[in-house]
Amino acid sequence: MASFASLLGFLFSSFIIAAYAGNFVQDFDIAWGDSRAKLLNNGELLVLSLDRVSGSGFQSKSEYLFAKIDMQLKLVPGNSAGTVTAYYLSSQGASHDEIDFEFLGNLSGDPYTVHTNLYTQGKADREQQFRLWFDPTTDFHTYSIVWNPHCIIFSVDGTPLRVFKNMESIGVGYPKDQPMRLYSSLWSADDWATRGGLVKTDWAQAPFAASYRNFNADACAIVNGQSSCGSKPWFSQELDLTSQERLKWVQNNYMIYNYCTDTKRFPQGFPPECTPTN
Ligand SMILES: *[C@@H]1O[C@H](CO)[C@@H](O)[C@H](O)[C@H]1NC(C)=O
Repeated sequence: MASFASLLGFLFSSFIIAAYAGNFVQDFDIAWGDSRAKLLNNGELLVLSLDRVSGSGFQSKSEYLFAKIDMQLKLVPGNSAGTVTAYYLSSQGASHDEIDFEFLGNLSGDPYTVHTNLYTQGKADREQQFRLWFDPTTDFHTYSIVWNPHCIIFSVDGTPLRVFKNMESIGVGYPKDQPMRLYSSLWSADDWATRGGLVKTDWAQAPFAASYRNFNADACAIVNGQSSCGSKPWFSQELDLTSQERLKWVQNNYMIYNYCTDTKRFPQGFPPECTPTN
């Protein structure tokens, strides 16, 4: 049963949504955390916060079946150990698809980890992790997902970090039938996030806050159960030569974990997508 306090919180967050007009207001709902999720500057800036009691999150009103999504994020500054800022696309249900960006906080001066994963029909275990080539807490940077029938591209400021190709021809699941919503949240996961759980959240630093702006979805939204797409330049996008070079640069210099090279984890051999055919 919903408590009076959460009802109040709901009314309060509804009031905040109704009181502004802008990007975030039109495109998103505050999903949880009550007034810890705040819309500022006429809805152009969204700030999520986390305290000892709760984190917060928002979700897109629309569902998409294929999308090019850009969002600018400024991550929790200072001692952000134990905090996780997640930004992902996900469908519903047990055999869901999901395209995940997660930013794992750290002690002041220690680097953030960008954690990526992919679920296809409920199956995940496809983690790759990266460092960034800049401090993601001092300025806004653009984090993008291109999701089309051929591939999924994760990129930062236009530089690709990771590409997952459609390899259905060799029996690897690919998300192409289930519409997804965009979600973002800030919460504490200090049992695993920072140095495998060794470093805990320092609640004396709370509230922690991450900021979002310039959301842009050039997407095939689901309208009345139908995907309405039109012609989108990114729909057939694959990496051009320059982007392939950039991807190699990131993977050589900034990748810190790749499930496809983790022999301890896959003693019986790697999943099929780890040995691309082309
Ligand atoms: C935090 O910093 C330590 C020390 O540099 C590093 O080993 C770790 O990978 C960093 N990130 C996380 C999320 O633990």
